Amino acid sequence: MKIKKAIIPAAGLGTRVLPASKSVPKEMLNIVDKPAVQYIVEEAAASGIEDILIITNRGKGVIEDHFDHSFELESQLKNNPSKADIYESVKKCSELANIYFIRQKETKGLAHAILAGKSFIGNEPFAVLYGDDVVINNENPVTAQMCRCFEKYGKSIVGVQSVPRELIHLYCSLGVTPIEGEDRLMNCWQINEKPTDDEILSLFAILGRVVLTPEAFDLIEEGIAATPDDKEFYLTDVFTRLGKAGNLLAYDFDGRRYDMGNKLGIMKANCEVALDHPEIGDSFREYLKELVKTF
Ligand code: UTP
Repeated sequence: MKIKKAIIPAAGLGTRVLPASKSVPKEMLNIVDKPAVQYIVEEAAASGIEDILIITNRGKGVIEDHFDHSFELESQLKNNPSKADIYESVKKCSELANIYFIRQKETKGLAHAILAGKSFIGNEPFAVLYGDDVVINNENPVTAQMCRCFEKYGKSIVGVQSVPRELIHLYCSLGVTPIEGEDRLMNCWQINEKPTDDEILSLFAILGRVVLTPEAFDLIEEGIAATPDDKEFYLTDVFTRLGKAGNLLAYDFDGRRYDMGNKLGIMKANCEVALDHPEIGDSFREYLKELVKTF
C-alpha cells in the first residue's frame, strides 16, 4: 500500500532555541532563504505524499500564512518581469501539496501531537516528519526511501542514523538485528531512551522520520489513558510495544540531518545549505576560507 498522507508535528515550545523561538516558531527559523518547515514539506511532496497535516498551536499561525497565497505580494511580483524567479518561489509555497492544519490544544508531547491527526489519517499508514528535523537528500528524499521499505514489508519503520557514542545518552539506543538481503533495513526489538552506558544497545538513534501503521493511534490512546495527567506519554513507548510484537523496522536513512531545535544544528544547516546554494555558494565558500584563516 502506498503512503499518501503525512503528519508534521510543529507544536512544541522550542525551549532549546529561546529566545529566537519566542515569537517565531522554531519550525519557521530560516535556512538561507526558506524556513525549516518548507524543506520538510518539500521532502514530503517529493516523496509522493499528497496530503500533509501540520500540527500547530497558539502563536504558530505564521506557519499557516507561509503556505497560503499572499495575494498582494504575488500580484506585485507578478507585474515586475525582473522578479519572475522570486514570484515563482513565493507562489510555489502554496502549491507544494494539500496542506491542512490542526491545533494541539495542550503541549503534551509528540505522541499527543500525533494523536491530533487521527481522524485526518483514518485507517491508512502514514509518515511522520518531525517539524524541527530537516533532512536533505535532493536526489532520493528520505521519506521516499522509507515509504519504499513500507511498501515491501508493511510494518512501522523508524528512521535512524548512527550518533557518536559520547552523545547517545541524549537520544535513544536501538536493539536491532540485520535483515538478510537488506543494506539499511533492520528489525528493531528494543528502544532504550536516554541510555546509560550499560543500556547502550547500538549507536542507532531515532532521528525525525517515522512511518506508522494506524494501530499506532490505538497504542497512543491506551498509553495516554494509562498515564497520570501531569506526566507525558512518550512516543518511544509506542515504538517499544511495536518492537516487542515484532512489528517494527529501523531504517538507516541516507540524508544530511539538521536538528533545528538546537543552536549548533541551526548553524550547521545554514552553513552547509549556503555552501550548496546556486546563488551564494561560491562567494560563501570564499568568505569561509578567508574567515578560517583568522581563527
Ligand atoms: P521536540 O521535543 O524536539 O520539540 O519535538 P520541543 O518540545 O519544542 O523541544 P524543546 O525541548 O522545548 O526545545 C519534536 C517535534 O515535535 C513537535 C515539535 O514542535 C518538534 O517539531 N512537538 C513537540 C509537538 O508538536 N507537540 C509537543 O507537545 C511536543
